[in-house]
Amino acid sequence: MVNPFRPSAGANPPYLIGRDALLDEFDDSLEAGPGAPYRLMRITGSRGSGKTVLLNALGKRARARRWTVIDETATHGFVGNLILALRAQYERRDVKSVELPSLGVDGLGSVGLGKVEFDRTALPMTLRTALTNAVNHIGGRHADRGLLITIDETQGADVADLRALATAVQHLIREERNIAVAFAGLPGMTSSLLHDNVITFLRRATPVELGDISLDLVSDAFEDVIHEHGYDITPDALRIATEATHGYPFMVQLVGYNIWRKALGATIDENSARNGVEAARLRLGGTVHEPAIEDLSSVDRTYLLAMAQDEGPSRTGDIARRIGKDTQYAGRYRERLIQAGIIHSSSYGYVDFTIPYLRQWLQEHAATLIMRSE
Ligand SMILES: Nc1ncnc2c1ncn2[C@@H]1O[C@H](COP(=O)(O)OP(=O)(O)OP(=O)(O)O)[C@@H](O)[C@H]1O
Ligand SMILES: [Mg+2]
Repeated sequence: MVNPFRPSAGANPPYLIGRDALLDEFDDSLEAGPGAPYRLMRITGSRGSGKTVLLNALGKRARARRWTVIDETATHGFVGNLILALRAQYERRDVKSVELPSLGVDGLGSVGLGKVEFDRTALPMTLRTALTNAVNHIGGRHADRGLLITIDETQGADVADLRALATAVQHLIREERNIAVAFAGLPGMTSSLLHDNVITFLRRATPVELGDISLDLVSDAFEDVIHEHGYDITPDALRIATEATHGYPFMVQLVGYNIWRKALGATIDENSARNGVEAARLRLGGTVHEPAIEDLSSVDRTYLLAMAQDEGPSRTGDIARRIGKDTQYAGRYRERLIQAGIIHSSSYGYVDFTIPYLRQWLQEHAATLIMRSE
């Protein structure tokens, strides 16, 4: 039997848990017309919280309405790629555009080997023209069809790129065109990028924060997916598996995948569940905890190790004391870790881990991590 679970970044799960209401809101907004709230969305969540697969699901809903969907990742210069993609598809193929790219024409700054650099100051106008052509073309025969653009990993975007996109999209919205944009990124994307006045409009985008999924929904989804694929699961096994996910989407797939692997024949019993959960936890360490920690500075790591000395939420004052810094200094590192989606403030003056099992992982690896930080 093929394992139905998909524990891999960006891989669509067999059942997308807990997103129905949001997808319906989005669908309503597509129907409602220009200016509807979910036509402009900013989705934030930690690593593995399901941002990319949510963008995939939005794209699917839009396609069902015969909208066109363009998916971009916010790497350096992504707006240039977007313009080229739009032009390739929607610009009239007269002699001029066949000769593209040519120097200095139409907002094009310089042309390198296989890479086009757009004139940054003309970027908003160039993009606006390309988008206008695209929505004209898409809505030409069917006025209710439009264009959805999804932008993933927004926290890594250049401000110039985002500003161009924001300016252009704002104009199209004002002109009541059928356009929708969904931005997704780590929690910090809102603070690190939204200080810029020109993209204030992003702050007004409908915010969607991906938190933990309710365990009742996880349990139902496990049961349905497992039964639909010809396996069985005992009530005890279902409870063990569900609780082990902590409602964290990536862990839902990891647990599902591993309890399936450990099934006895076609039945997942208590023993298979315990073994599967253990395997999932190990896997989470390698695929989520380790890369998350490797991206951090050594002070960030020290902060986390100080938190891991507690068995629940930590008092920020205690952490500052443990790392031997004043509260203001410690506060800066706390803020960075919040923006990276690794910790969150659980109540006033307290912080806790956002990614499940990170505390245990840090406790188990403290010795090597301390050595590396020194
Ligand atoms: N709502 C959901 N229900 C069930 N599984 C989900 C859900 N959302 C995401 N997943 C699963 O979780 C894993 C992570 O999803 P995804 O790659 O979309 O996360 P992400 O937030 O984009 O992470 P990153 O920040 O690392 O890019 C995938 O295996 C995906 O199938
Ligand atoms: Mg992603």
